[in-house]
Amino acid sequence: MIAEEIKRLKEERNAVILAHYYVDSQVQAMADYVGDSFYLAKVASKTDKETIVFCGVRFMGESAKMLNPDRCVLLPDETADCPMAHMASEEQIARLRAQTEDLAVVCYINSSAKLKSLSDVCVTSSNAVRIVGALPNKNILFIPDANLGAYVQERFPEKNFYFSGGYCPVHAVLLPQDILTEKKAHPQAKFLVHPEARGEVCALADFIGSTSEIIEYAQKSDAESFILGTEPGVLYELENRCPGKTFYPVTPVCEDMKRITPEKLLSCLRDGKYEVKLDAALCERAERPLERMLELAR
Ligand code: 13P
Ligand code: SF4
Repeated sequence: MIAEEIKRLKEERNAVILAHYYVDSQVQAMADYVGDSFYLAKVASKTDKETIVFCGVRFMGESAKMLNPDRCVLLPDETADCPMAHMASEEQIARLRAQTEDLAVVCYINSSAKLKSLSDVCVTSSNAVRIVGALPNKNILFIPDANLGAYVQERFPEKNFYFSGGYCPVHAVLLPQDILTEKKAHPQAKFLVHPEARGEVCALADFIGSTSEIIEYAQKSDAESFILGTEPGVLYELENRCPGKTFYPVTPVCEDMKRITPEKLLSCLRDGKYEVKLDAALCERAERPLERMLELAR
């Protein structure tokens, strides 16, 4: 019933529904496109629909708006925000820019519009290594996720890295001891982890990747069981794509992603709320690093 009403309103508004793998499974089931941050940014940059409904946290809706300033972008819950998106400051960036020659400010897409506007290029977890590798700069300020930044840094010993010290409060709670306990309980299971986890936890992994990469790895792998070091919303896609395989989630849920419910999706489409509004000049400045990411990732 609610699914039918959502479909009807979506057509009436000429809208497309995008959802991240971390949102509620019922919401994922109603979306036109479900994926990781990079995939969803690409879909948002190409859509011809009048309205984009983004089932995810605020920075995702803002990125869709930057890539489509003339379209209406709606968020089912305007309070769904990623805490890490704010974990860098204008002062940190300005200070390092003033002190350091040949510096590129690399901004994880999980960031506020303001932070993007002060950066040279954006990255997501699935393209960060490729994009940093394509930059000619010797010095890199990686904001806001220091864990993803350290994961990238390991691959480029010839570059100097600086960090703003941010972290994902969901992935960073995992400690090596949690994984060792889980591995002891399930010795055959492969450990798959997102690079937002701590370096000591990533060091115990059989595979490190974005949500999409984790799903693809599990699907292709000959292994039958997996310890899952990312938000358990991915289980919906994993169970669809990997029947018969077993997953042991160890990461807590992201409360912000879980704010998106089918009821809120329905009222968002019915009432046209909550529209993402960005100052035009800020939107233009923040779009440049996103476009550069899309170009470099091609
Ligand atoms: P990806 O889906 O790009 O791996 O990102 C994970 C995440 O934390 C999104 O908020
Ligand atoms: Fe932000 Fe972490 Fe939630 Fe992703 S999982 S939205 S990085 S708090």
